[in-house]
Amino acid sequence: MNSSSLNDNIPGFPNLPIRPRRNRRNKAIRALVRETRLSPESFILPVFVVDGENQRIPIAAMPGCYRLSIDETVKLAKEAHGLGISGIAPFPALTDDKKDSIATESTNPDGLYQRTIKELKSALPELLVISDVAMDPYSSDGHDGLVEDGQILNDETLEILACMAVSQAEAGSDIVAPSDMMDGRVGYIRDALDLDGFTDVGILSYSAKYASAFYGPFRDALDSAPKAGDKKTYQMDPANGTEALREVFLDIEEGADMVMVKPGLPYLDVIRRIKDAVEVPVAAYHVSGEYAMIKAAAEKGWLDGKAAMVEAHIALKRAGADMILTYSAIDMAKILQG
Ligand code: PBG
Repeated sequence: MNSSSLNDNIPGFPNLPIRPRRNRRNKAIRALVRETRLSPESFILPVFVVDGENQRIPIAAMPGCYRLSIDETVKLAKEAHGLGISGIAPFPALTDDKKDSIATESTNPDGLYQRTIKELKSALPELLVISDVAMDPYSSDGHDGLVEDGQILNDETLEILACMAVSQAEAGSDIVAPSDMMDGRVGYIRDALDLDGFTDVGILSYSAKYASAFYGPFRDALDSAPKAGDKKTYQMDPANGTEALREVFLDIEEGADMVMVKPGLPYLDVIRRIKDAVEVPVAAYHVSGEYAMIKAAAEKGWLDGKAAMVEAHIALKRAGADMILTYSAIDMAKILQG
């Protein structure tokens, strides 16, 4: 075909000295110029833990995820560690008889959560345990804070959170991660940990945690949905970005060692703004609903689940996440191994 043969009214082939496609010509060039790389080391695996032994209870909206008894959790943690994953973030799924309005069970030294932390640390001392600090798994109200006359009390909740954090540190947790969004909790927890001698236990703060519909499958997994109302008086409005910076700066002033944005994919702009503004590591939580969306579409044959999963993780990293909490950590690590 001649350069000007198609139609006399269009120009011939252009002279294009600059051709971005050159850098995409083959696999080796694409690998050479790739800006973002994933590594299992930046993954943290969230897991749901139940009482009992040999328990693997499927979670309907999270295909491939289970509520695991401690022995099974340790097995999964060994696999994760073997694949180079840096940390595990357990969440306790408790029966209703263990829940009350003041989250009493959350500080039980022999409670499910404390036993989980102990067993994980004794089996795998090098695998980081990042424990969750919030009332919801233990609360009969299903809220992250104390409820009184339909209000979520802030300052009264701080004491409970601090006791919970100390109890987790005593059990061996490496990093406590307050996910409750009460004001002042990071400083309060830092003081409590330090007073008890846990100066080396870190705080990964869920600083910019949005009131999101994407937590649905998680709440099903823990049976922790609020009994009344919603979480909008403490979790952030999805419409706000600048406010996330305010939350992050406060948490850093109060002593947060790392900060988190949650959910991940719908908030890539927030991750980027925070990454550009702070000097501490930034985490993104690729939450249950994000996981469920990809799994459900893949099950229906509507998209390539594996490729979508890799793309989602690359996007979080590209946006500025130094680490990613992800239910796909093991699958992703296997894919990265090739
Ligand atoms: C609550 C908590 C939630 C998640 C982690 N910690 C849910 C909520 O705030 O209701 C959600 C994680 C996910 O959806 O994967 N402290």
